[in-house]
Amino acid sequence: MPEADVSKKEKNFHTDVPQKNELFFLKGSNNYDWGMKNRLARIFSPASGRTVMLAFDHGYFQGPTTGLERVDLSILPLAPYADALMLTRGILRSIIPPSTPRAVVMRASGGPSILKELSNEQIAVDMEDAVRMNVSAVAVQVFIGGEHETQSVHNLTRLVDAGMRVGIPVLGVTAVGKDMVRDAKYIRLAVRICAELGAAFVKTYYVEQDFDSVTSSCPVPIVIAGGKKLPELDALTMAYNALSAGASGVDMGRNIFQSDAPVAMLQAVRNVVHEGMKPREAFELYSKFKNSVKK
Ligand code: 5RP
Repeated sequence: MPEADVSKKEKNFHTDVPQKNELFFLKGSNNYDWGMKNRLARIFSPASGRTVMLAFDHGYFQGPTTGLERVDLSILPLAPYADALMLTRGILRSIIPPSTPRAVVMRASGGPSILKELSNEQIAVDMEDAVRMNVSAVAVQVFIGGEHETQSVHNLTRLVDAGMRVGIPVLGVTAVGKDMVRDAKYIRLAVRICAELGAAFVKTYYVEQDFDSVTSSCPVPIVIAGGKKLPELDALTMAYNALSAGASGVDMGRNIFQSDAPVAMLQAVRNVVHEGMKPREAFELYSKFKNSVKK
């Protein structure tokens, strides 16, 4: 039995203070339910509105990618510096300690390997299992213009429906096929389709020309993929330019874990994303961290 309220102190209802009714900080996300917003706020920092996601899901179609031969050795030391980990459920259960405070964005589509037609993906994780793993979002590849375009869009919409039932947001990942031109016109089309069909945020590639038209015509946040390994200064410049053109963060893989000093690189990227540090300054920071690790 709870004790009766016997306090002699006068009650204060603060009748002159209206209760705050704040808008949710993330673009296009205000009308979601509490659980969905809470999950998005684990991925995107409410302070900066941005995210640094560390992508190491590459094995789902290309096996032990360079730098990911031993995820336990290469990725676990990086995890403390990322806001979210983008991975497969196999790696989550076999390698990632359940005590991690990091948000998990789980790859939920797959099927073909690099030896086959990559767009022929299906849903690869049941939403019930995503709930069991307490993920903050699921990710699905969408192949606009690809051979199995409709099937991949259907994977997205089925995951959005399943995610809405339990409050799990879906990340639409736009894949650019080998024969497609990677320009703003194509990326605008692909990310807008993902957003229109219910993706809560979209991952795409940065293009130098008109990337601001991609972000402004997409009603939900965009995070950029790192793509192939670049020299560190170029990767930091790409991140900076993408953010300046309206991106809400990065979801970088090879440019982090294939760097000569992955922890230093991730810290430099964090500074660009969350503090707005200029690329040259971030590169100096990278070099400093890299040298201090060597000593
Ligand atoms: C494929 C993917 C990835 O497997 C991965 O997340 C890409 O990251 P990066 O390009 O930075 O290595 O999304 O499209």
